[in-house]
Amino acid sequence: MTDENISLNTDDQLPSREQFVRAFYKILQSLRIHRENNQLLTESVHDFIRLLHRIGDEQGSLTVRFIRGRLYLQEERLLYRRETVNLFDNLMSYFEKRGLQGIRFYPHIENKDMTEVLVLAAILNQAEQKKEPLAWLSHEIQEEGFSWVEIIKSDAKSFESRRHKSEKALKTYAYALESVQEITQKLSAGSRVGIGRTLRITQNMVDLMMEDEPLFLALSTIRMYDDYTYRHSLNVAILSMCIGKYIGLSRRSLEQLGLCGLLHDLGKIMVPKHILSKPGKLTQEEFEEMKKHVLNSVRQIVKIHGSSERKAKLLLPPFEHHLRYDLSGYPQTHRHEPLTLFGRIIAIADVYDATTSPRVYRRNAMPPDQALGMMSAHAGTHFDPILLKVFINMVGVYPIGTLLELDSKELAIVVRAADNPDKTRPTVMLLSSDENGGFKKGKIADLNEKDPRTGDHKRNIVRSLVPSDYAIQPAAFLL
Ligand SMILES: [Fe+2]
Ligand SMILES: [Fe+2]
Repeated sequence: MTDENISLNTDDQLPSREQFVRAFYKILQSLRIHRENNQLLTESVHDFIRLLHRIGDEQGSLTVRFIRGRLYLQEERLLYRRETVNLFDNLMSYFEKRGLQGIRFYPHIENKDMTEVLVLAAILNQAEQKKEPLAWLSHEIQEEGFSWVEIIKSDAKSFESRRHKSEKALKTYAYALESVQEITQKLSAGSRVGIGRTLRITQNMVDLMMEDEPLFLALSTIRMYDDYTYRHSLNVAILSMCIGKYIGLSRRSLEQLGLCGLLHDLGKIMVPKHILSKPGKLTQEEFEEMKKHVLNSVRQIVKIHGSSERKAKLLLPPFEHHLRYDLSGYPQTHRHEPLTLFGRIIAIADVYDATTSPRVYRRNAMPPDQALGMMSAHAGTHFDPILLKVFINMVGVYPIGTLLELDSKELAIVVRAADNPDKTRPTVMLLSSDENGGFKKGKIADLNEKDPRTGDHKRNIVRSLVPSDYAIQPAAFLL
């Protein structure tokens, strides 16, 4: 869904708080495309004022705030729904680009003051191009003498909490990795393993995802050569859970889905090492051996100590993860009923992570955008076309962590998915060379940015690259 099709039908089912946020963002967006007398724009402003009165009159003011990766209206967090997920993400990235922590509106504004709302929107839009957007914004609003709006600045504390959050995220990641390793090793040694610890870890993962989804997703870009299978399992869990959240699964379902992701390749411990790490194509015989990992995953899950009711729910998705949407793939069954939702989700996460991950024995990892392109060619045959669309919408054409070559002769890493309509102009971190011949963090650039003299984009993407070819670990730049 793009900004353009955020409907402004006020009869819809969205609560007024969310309608208010939507009307506000719609004004900001519409003003970029339409003239000030455009009917849609006028309607949005009227909606904005009407809703500001409806909700704000009683409370004296209305504050839209952006804290720890979530949007709040007053003290209440705005929950993601299918209709608002893009809107909220776009609005938060809009706030972030301007260093804004929030905006407070006072309801003493009337329909006749419509122009003031438009002026405010124009100032907010322009702020992005300014060197110090926040200072400029405050100054402009003061100059205009608008008494019905107030800017809330982000403070040092929130930056501090960002660092704290990254640390917490990395800890959760490390525990999860340890847990997959432990389960695998214990099972292969024939020792008793319980599901408890892994379940608690998936619960922590859900918490982390709810708190800061971009950060959670960034964890999936940690890629190493050495322990591919464990990290792959964890990445599949992370990506699957994000898809699950995107389509509105319940917390419990997300935990379950995470567990299935963590355990889906458990059976690989029984595949002979020389097959698992063979650099070239497998022979037919070797491939037959490899295929056994699916049923072995199921057997291993059965061996885990835990209630049979809980385990029963964990068996089918791992069993299905190499079956395709059209029921080809393996292990071949004579079933006619479609794959489970979790099975279809995990299949997407699995192929995406496998193709984009470098491994010791396979040098040709694909950049994420190419992997998505390849997967799209199999929508409806290998992959559930709707879920694949959801996935691409979620990660963007150039997902977080993609390494790009720009026409400015710079290398850059995508730090925020694009919010322009065709999702092709993400926000990136430019890389500069360090003293050791490697790369260090440079400045952040929005690829939407235009050169004011020529009107052309300042930077354009030439192509995507494989980070490991440049000894780059995207996660190091993201977390
Ligand atoms: Fe597999
Ligand atoms: Fe896998």
